[in-house]
Amino acid sequence: MAIAKKMQEYAQRSSWIRKMFEAGAKMKAQYGAENVFDFSLGNPDLPPPPQFRGTLLAAAARSEPGLHGYMANGGYPQVRAAVAARIGAEQGVAVSQEEVLMTCGAAGGLNVVMKALLDPGDEVIILAPFFVEYHFYVDNHGGVARVVPTADDFSLDLGAIEAAISPRTKAIIVNSPNNPTGQIYSAEALASLSELLDRAGRAHATTIYLVADEPYRKIVYDGCQVPSIFKAYRHSLVVSSYSKDLSLPGERIGYIAVHPDCVDRELLVGAMTLANRILGFVNAPALMQRVVGELQGVTVDCSIYGRRRDLFCRILAENGYEFVPPKGAFYLFPKSPLADDVAFVALLQEEKILAVPGRGFGMPGYFRLAFCVEDGVIERSAPGFARAMAAARELLAQRLRL
Ligand SMILES: Cc1ncc(COP(=O)(O)O)c(C=O)c1O
Repeated sequence: MAIAKKMQEYAQRSSWIRKMFEAGAKMKAQYGAENVFDFSLGNPDLPPPPQFRGTLLAAAARSEPGLHGYMANGGYPQVRAAVAARIGAEQGVAVSQEEVLMTCGAAGGLNVVMKALLDPGDEVIILAPFFVEYHFYVDNHGGVARVVPTADDFSLDLGAIEAAISPRTKAIIVNSPNNPTGQIYSAEALASLSELLDRAGRAHATTIYLVADEPYRKIVYDGCQVPSIFKAYRHSLVVSSYSKDLSLPGERIGYIAVHPDCVDRELLVGAMTLANRILGFVNAPALMQRVVGELQGVTVDCSIYGRRRDLFCRILAENGYEFVPPKGAFYLFPKSPLADDVAFVALLQEEKILAVPGRGFGMPGYFRLAFCVEDGVIERSAPGFARAMAAARELLAQRLRL
């Protein structure tokens, strides 16, 4: 076999979303795209905000020399400064351009952070259910992911986190608003986490970094706000992108911001700048840096996602599904009516509904629905959800009769 054994294993492990994607492509070819209800992918369907096009065209029309050249690996100073000003306002802690690096999306940013922090065998705590790529990002840089489940309502289980900390723990990744649950960790929970990380760090004579993966920070509902990670803990980094809030996932543009009082801040920024280069990103895309630098504070119309969330929650509740309503992001993570989430997702598939089994996110017994689709798709899927629930109940009843 020409490819690495590790990549063969990776391909197996990452296959759930891909499997659903492939099943979806087949079903759409067979039944017509309009007859398939595809909730499998978190690919934002809203167009970028109207300001984006004008800013892009103006940026593309400029012709000064060097506009398309290499630059400092951390990005353009004026863009880093614009991003720093915005993060300072969001986090309530002043941040300078020295503490910001432009990256190839949040995914690029997370890899840069891991590359800068991890020696082989260092541990990173990730919380289940998780964004499946975290495993790869940790492993890419020789780290070991320690999975800690969240509580029943998907809030932080501080006792379980404490129990998972070891002398090798280098970092914990938190993602809020969360993919796949849509939950937001409260300021109180983050304060308790901070206390815990401080205490554990002192006990092991080390620093445990808190990495906040926040690409959904601006996609929130019912007036919810995402509490500041920088106010909670000084050894923290925010990794984010414009993939979701400007609907630009294909443009690969994001950033990392480091808390100004973080231990070894300069060393860390230096290491991350080098990591950006030697991971082969070199620097974030030049044109997109110039564009997002001008669009600080602009977001897609989140009320559209909010409307869909309400619609989907109503349909699921009316049909007997149990779920914690999402406070942000564009995912629902209901309980599977059958303990076997793969079996239930297969029942949904019979109704031409595509969902991803919870085990793909490290949490069997649930399934994920991404609602970055038109309202009509959600509306028209309602009878299918009703029939799938009835079929699941019938299966459970049959098992009881046996
Ligand atoms: C939780 C989470 N983190 C990171 C990413 C990667 O985002 P980006 O496209 O900015 O690399 C995603 C994308 O879906 C995500 O859901």
